[in-house]
Amino acid sequence: METIQTDVAIIGAGGAGLRAAIALAQESPKLRIALISKVYPMRSHTCAAEGGAAGVIKDNDSFEQHFHDTVGGGDWLCDQDAVDYHIHEAPKELMQLEHWGCPWNREDNGSVAVRPFGGMKIERTWFAADKSGFHILHTLFQTSLQFPQIQRYDEYFATDLLVDDGRCQGFTAIEMKSGSMRRFKAGAVIIAGGGASRMFPFNTNGAIKTGDGMAMAYRAGAPLKDMEFVQYHPTGLPNTGTLLTEACRGEGGVLLNKDNYRFLQDYGMGPETPKGQPVLKTMELGPRDRVSQAIWGEMQKGRAVDTPWGKCVWLDLRHLGEKKINERLPFVRDICISYLAMDPVHEMIPIVPVVHYMMGGIHTDTKAATSLPGLFAAGECACVSINGANRLGSNSLVEILVFGRRAALSAAEYVAAAKPGNEAALVAQADASQARIDELFARSSGTESIAGLRKEMHETMGDGAGIYRTQEGLAKTSAKLAELRRRYQNIKLHDKSRVYNTDLLTALELGNMLDCAEAVAVSGRERKESRGAHQRLDFTARDDDKYLRHSMAYFNGLEPPRIDYRDVVITTSPPGVRDYSGEKK
Ligand code: FUM
Repeated sequence: METIQTDVAIIGAGGAGLRAAIALAQESPKLRIALISKVYPMRSHTCAAEGGAAGVIKDNDSFEQHFHDTVGGGDWLCDQDAVDYHIHEAPKELMQLEHWGCPWNREDNGSVAVRPFGGMKIERTWFAADKSGFHILHTLFQTSLQFPQIQRYDEYFATDLLVDDGRCQGFTAIEMKSGSMRRFKAGAVIIAGGGASRMFPFNTNGAIKTGDGMAMAYRAGAPLKDMEFVQYHPTGLPNTGTLLTEACRGEGGVLLNKDNYRFLQDYGMGPETPKGQPVLKTMELGPRDRVSQAIWGEMQKGRAVDTPWGKCVWLDLRHLGEKKINERLPFVRDICISYLAMDPVHEMIPIVPVVHYMMGGIHTDTKAATSLPGLFAAGECACVSINGANRLGSNSLVEILVFGRRAALSAAEYVAAAKPGNEAALVAQADASQARIDELFARSSGTESIAGLRKEMHETMGDGAGIYRTQEGLAKTSAKLAELRRRYQNIKLHDKSRVYNTDLLTALELGNMLDCAEAVAVSGRERKESRGAHQRLDFTARDDDKYLRHSMAYFNGLEPPRIDYRDVVITTSPPGVRDYSGEKK
């Protein structure tokens, strides 16, 4: 097997991976950097982000306020030292992007414009119309091109981490165009592979978001933290799950039930304000968990709208007018016209909550180090715990920058002191990784189909791990996933060719999703309280005595994960009441 020797290897070339690569190249110009991705960088899911990125920039705002919005929004499951680092670094990162050419929207006076976003009680979301992720990714990608030491490996699918002497020393990856496996030998590895929401049937995520990085780290012994916290975005298109950015509401859009009533005021998110003039803290600018739960509530009460795609509520933008929609939400208009044949300038849009983001991921400390020496992680695949039990919209586009850079600095420091590994042991592991793939190709007795298992995974995740959960549902889903993981050992490939074999790649992705999905269901089953995005119909209250703790899922072979807990870091904000009523207290 060909070996590629590098100093730091980064798996994932979206926002976090590119930011890490640039930071490494700038801060440690002598390091060789390998940037590996299963797609071309500009196809990474960062591209799909719409609304914007939060950072304190205006005189009416403060770090303190960003801190409190984030910690309260996360229902106090955030590690406050991580949040503190994040909010202070955020404006520097966003300004850095500005200097690299990111076309942030402007105020009339030329300063950077910000818009309101859910759960942020002051406007602090920088944006580039409603294509912020596209512009951020483009800016990072074009910046990365100026560093020859960043060696890209596009369309390489990473399969297994190589761990010897208790430390990560590289990984194996399949070069997709030939089907050959390569060994990446690296002093340090950064995983920046994105989330895993494709484990759910209805989601906003690109097809590539299958938890590959999370699963690889998990199987190598790094625990997955807080996996039960899965974010539903309130406003997805009902037929496709396509995201309609929260910026629709930030710009003044309203949510209505079938009686054209702004129902959020009945769910602790009042008082009502005139259409088009949202008062920060209230109504449509509540946090995502609460708004999605309210929509679910309207459905239960029979106050949702029946559409050809199922039950929905209305998102009304008409009062914003064509000029503002074209200026601030042009992509939203395009999406509605293309996928629903409806023009939001003239019609209300049916929307439904949709799985969008995983708050959980590979456990890291505030320096982006995992518990496996030599392995670092950043972005959605990681859980540094700035998002707690519910992420606020627009915190993640900054997280990928802040912690992408942080991971790079940590990896550079680590690699400077790393000792060479045991070559024979690492080669043997790479050979075992190749043998696993060869066995899959050679297997003639397999009876399970990839699409069949994926469908069953989707059904059980949708049924048992949705917006509201119960012990019975989570136990059933956990048991089903254990069964599917066993049956996965018996899958069959139909395409036996090696060149761009998507049958093989989807099989590997399915295995990764099943591992992550089981961590979600079992962590959820064990958390017998309601907090943020984890709402239990049988344990309706938050229980700080028992569960003001992070869950830690440890891989356990074909057995369900072992769940342990870890204290939350509280520095200045003791657990309190999340108040989005808008009432003056
Ligand atoms: O609604 C949105 O534009 C999504 C933003 C986010 O997830 O941060």
